[in-house]
Amino acid sequence: MATGGLGYIGSETSLLLLQNGFDVLIVDSLINSSFSVFERIKKSLDNSNVGKKGKLFFRKGDIRNYDFVKSVFAEFKYAKNPIESVIHFAGIKSVPDSQKNSLNYWDVNVNGAINLLIVMKENNCNNIVFSSSATIYKSDSSKKIKESHKLHPINPYGNTKLAIEKILGDLFNSEKDKWRIASLRYFNPAGSNPNGFLRENISSNSTNLFPTIFNVLDNKKEFLEVFGNDWPTEDGTCVRDFIHVTDLARAHILSLKYLLNNDPQNIAINIGTGKGASVLEVINTFKEVLNLDIKYKFVKRRDGDYPYVVADNSLANSMLKWHPSKNLSDICKDSWKSHIQNL
Ligand code: UD1
Repeated sequence: MATGGLGYIGSETSLLLLQNGFDVLIVDSLINSSFSVFERIKKSLDNSNVGKKGKLFFRKGDIRNYDFVKSVFAEFKYAKNPIESVIHFAGIKSVPDSQKNSLNYWDVNVNGAINLLIVMKENNCNNIVFSSSATIYKSDSSKKIKESHKLHPINPYGNTKLAIEKILGDLFNSEKDKWRIASLRYFNPAGSNPNGFLRENISSNSTNLFPTIFNVLDNKKEFLEVFGNDWPTEDGTCVRDFIHVTDLARAHILSLKYLLNNDPQNIAINIGTGKGASVLEVINTFKEVLNLDIKYKFVKRRDGDYPYVVADNSLANSMLKWHPSKNLSDICKDSWKSHIQNL
């Protein structure tokens, strides 16, 4: 089951699971996604040249609703296709919104996770891959961040992600011989499926870098505000670890396979490329690869930003045999292709 499977990362991962022969049940409330993505996943699967394809199912509902989640597990058990594992994407993720509406973030993200875990436990479904975030780290470092780095989120969104990791830890400790849990700490997901069908839903009030760049390129915003050029980095702008969404999707499949083939355990794994790119490098890559000029101005630093947030991804390399296959040029090319294809 993929909760939030019609979202940006959930849809890429669901497609890849299907292409790998897994049956996928997407459960999504559609509060932040659209049913058209389901059709796009189907179309993408039909167009894929792979061996055995999995079967795709969809049930609309909110994972905070106990009766709904319970009925979905019961339905698939009755149909002799019980839910064996969950990849849990469902959640809300805007940092500024979480600062304004913190209770909603605790409700949707944390209550949703608790409810899901209660029903999983009742159904002896003990395998879960959870969408966590690098935002839970104390990003005070000029070095790459390891999983053992101090955890210290500074906004409600990050607090809910860390809370869920703690809930998963307590659950694991209560039944150590049962649970297989992986929390994937994403760095900065970006890019789109090169097939052009799946992509991030860009709203005009999105504050992340890539959606904002597209709003500037579409003339919906006059220029990109680059938050600070006086950071202690090579060119003075912040450095981030942008990870292509298809590489990120692949990390989920490898994590799930790893869990299913190994003893019960609870692990947290960084998913990033291990290579940083500054905001100016992103702007320059759009120019070099696509000849697109992004109008920008330097403005003062944004509250809550850090100069350098890059993954030490050696655990994902060694444990999952996961290695990123795409770079910043691919991210720019693929996201632009799907953007213009879907205008
Ligand atoms: C943000 C979230 C983080 C989340 C991550 C995943 C914040 C504070 N953090 O991280 O919790 O896990 O997204 O998507 O929102 N930038 C500009 N101008 C802009 C937008 C961004 O200069 O208009 C710069 C930022 O200063 C930053 C970089 O681009 O240095 C990336 O920003 P963004 O895409 O918002 O991601 P993060 O802040 O790293």
